[in-house]
Amino acid sequence: MERSKAMMVVVAAMAFALVMVVPRADATRFIVGANMGWTTNVNYTIWAQGKHFYNGDWLFFVYDRNQMNVLEVNKTDYESCNSDHPLHNWTTGAGRDVVPLNVTRHYYFISGKGFCFGGMKLAVLVENPPPPPTSSPLNEKSGSPSSIYRGQIVLPAVFAIGALWDAFVRVW
Ligand SMILES: *[C@@H]1O[C@H](CO)[C@@H](O)[C@H](O)[C@H]1NC(C)=O
Ligand SMILES: *[C@@H]1O[C@H](CO)[C@@H](O)[C@H](O)[C@H]1NC(C)=O
Ligand SMILES: *[C@@H]1O[C@H](CO)[C@@H](O)[C@H](O)[C@H]1NC(C)=O
Ligand SMILES: *[C@@H]1O[C@H](CO)[C@@H](O)[C@H](O)[C@H]1NC(C)=O
Repeated sequence: MERSKAMMVVVAAMAFALVMVVPRADATRFIVGANMGWTTNVNYTIWAQGKHFYNGDWLFFVYDRNQMNVLEVNKTDYESCNSDHPLHNWTTGAGRDVVPLNVTRHYYFISGKGFCFGGMKLAVLVENPPPPPTSSPLNEKSGSPSSIYRGQIVLPAVFAIGALWDAFVRVW
């Protein structure tokens, strides 16, 4: 009986640790330009205004893969629309590119092929997320943009806890 109690504590501690290492549950995936997407005739400075981009969030670029692309450049090249030496080419070819914002810094994106000059340029400042709310971090907010992500992290955690539980039952 003592032994099974001890095992129970170990399993509970491991499950708790597992939940604690899970990344931010409230991360946001921003669709750049909202329902307009990544295209001409959108002012992305205005789109980004008032939004907070936190470390762990994503940008999702949706666009015409036959025309535009997604290039990360430095500040100088952002201002001059120079696409000759991108820092990172995020273009995968599908017209749907996800960029993880995983460093707290300024990020600069442009479309090459001349579209930057027409306004296809986006600058965002990625900040550290604010401290989590005191309530459960896994609180479900239905319809929030991160609900897919939440499923991706919670399911493996549930499976891992299940596996630990199996191991515990076998020892017991
Ligand atoms: C951006 O890169 C260009 C070319 O490599 C360089 O001349 C320029 O100084 C860089 N600007 C910044 C702000 O790093
Ligand atoms: C970016 O990568 C895509 C896919 O690999 C490639 O087709 C395209 O030529 C690249 N563009 C630049 C400017 O490097
Ligand atoms: C950020 O994400 C990029 C692309 O997935 C990756 O190459 C890079 O190592 C990551 N950086 C950090 C600090 O996690
Ligand atoms: C986008 O809007 C900002 C703020 O109103 C303005 O300063 C900027 O010139 C506009 N950019 C373009 C490409 O029209």
